[in-house]
Order: sequence, then structure tokens, then C-alpha cells
Amino acid sequence: MLTIEGLDLLYGDAQALDDVSLDVPEGAVTAIIGANGAGKTSLIRTVSGILRPARGSIRFEGREIAGLPSHTVCDLGIGQVAEGRQVFPTMTVRENLEMGAVIPRARERAKANLERMLVLFPRLGERLRQAAGTLSGGEQQMLAIGRCLMGEPRVILFDEPSLGLAPAVVQELFRIIKRLRDEGMTIVLVEQNVAASLHLAATAHVLEQGRIVLSGTGPELLDNPKVQEAYLGL
Ligand SMILES: Nc1ncnc2c1ncn2[C@@H]1O[C@H](COP(=O)(O)OP(=O)(O)OP(=O)(O)O)[C@@H](O)[C@H]1O
Ligand SMILES: [Mg+2]
Repeated sequence: MLTIEGLDLLYGDAQALDDVSLDVPEGAVTAIIGANGAGKTSLIRTVSGILRPARGSIRFEGREIAGLPSHTVCDLGIGQVAEGRQVFPTMTVRENLEMGAVIPRARERAKANLERMLVLFPRLGERLRQAAGTLSGGEQQMLAIGRCLMGEPRVILFDEPSLGLAPAVVQELFRIIKRLRDEGMTIVLVEQNVAASLHLAATAHVLEQGRIVLSGTGPELLDNPKVQEAYLGL
């Protein structure tokens, strides 16, 4: 569904992505793992159009999207849940969700989609008129996901959604990601929570210093001694 080939990204002279190639299959989770500074966020932001690659190709449903502006990439159906909880703090929960449906494709169904969000995230339903900035960290992360879903994406890029959340909330978050996958969503998941993300992943890639050094199925990487030592603390 999404095919990345030979992607290079530079920040000035510093190379953050070096010849990255990978396939994101439809209706499955693709996990990206790697240490701090490996280039995970850079990869997500290049796919979503926030950063422009120096070289390489990103094809989405057969169309070249590398270098397109982020709003165009978003309109085409690639949604992003960014690192950190990117909600509009002074707007209410309802307004935040409605902001997710501003793109033309999703606007008509905003009302029905809002109902769906309240089923998926019942806690948000109880807080529709509350300012988003006063939600707990976990609630803000759910809101960021709900807002992304309001835009009816066909692919969601998650950048460390569990960062800074309490264990119970992390579990709930992974349940939601699993549910989205089971409903057929195509998901790219960047997570420090390596074991949980490999358990969900059909395919996974290890990024080190901007290069993909290892790829395989989720179970293969869970069994890989190098992954176990470096990322699973075994
Ligand atoms: N705006 C920028 N200007 C210069 N260098 C940058 C910029 N953003 C990121 N980098 C560098 O690019 C490299 C990759 O950063 P990136 O944020 O993609 O890593 P990451 O894998 O997401 O790390 P983390 O797990 O800490 O989020 C790092 O060395 C970082 O310092
Ligand atoms: Mg990052």
C-alpha cells in the first residue's frame, strides 16, 4: 500500500535517513524500532510530508508522494499521530475531534464518525465540553488518535503513542491499536515498547543511525537474539 525506496533525509550536513527502503502492507501493523536518535521520527515526518527527502521515493497506492506538502498527504489518506500529545489545549474535546474532520473527504461523515469515536473512547464522550488541555495524559493521547481517525485515514502513522503513559493506559492504547488493525486499518507503529509492538506487527524493521539493519516478521524479530539483547533487555 505504501512503498518507500532509497530514502535519504538530511538536516544540513547531518544524514538522518540513509537509503531506507520498506514496504507497508495493507491492513497490518508495520513496526519500526530503534534507539533514541535512530531516525524513527524523521522517517515518520518524511512520509507525512513535514520533511522533504534529499533522495528516494514514497509511493502510496501507486502515486508518488515524496516531497508533497503535508496537507496534501493528509488529504490523500495518510494520518499521523505525532510524538507528544498534540491536542489543541484551549479547545474542547468535541472541537478537537471536529478539527480532525476538516478535510473534504471526511467532512460529510463527521457526525457519524464522532459517534464512532465515543464508542471507541467512552471516556472522551463523558468529557466533550472539557478543554483538551485539562485532560489526563492518557486521555489526551486517546483524543489525538480520535482526531486522526475523524479524518478517515487509510494509513495511520503512530510516533511513540505510549510515551509517558502509565502501564494500564499503555495496555488500553495497545488494545485500541489492535482493534484498529483488526478492523483493517494499515498502521505504521514507532514504539519504545518493543515487545508489545512486535506482538502486533506483521512486519518490523530495526533502524540504526538512519539505516535499516534488520527486517522480518514480528515473531522473527521477537526471536532474534540481537533484538532481544538490544531492545528487549533479555
Ligand atoms: N531539526 C533537526 N535538525 C538537526 N538534526 C535533527 C533535527 N531533528 C532530528 N535531528 C537529528 O536526526 C537524528 C534522528 O532524530 P529522530 O528524531 O528522527 O530520532 P528518533 O529515532 O525519533 O529518536 P527518539 O527515539 O529519541 O524519538 C538525531 O541525531 C537528531 O539529533
Ligand atoms: Mg522520535
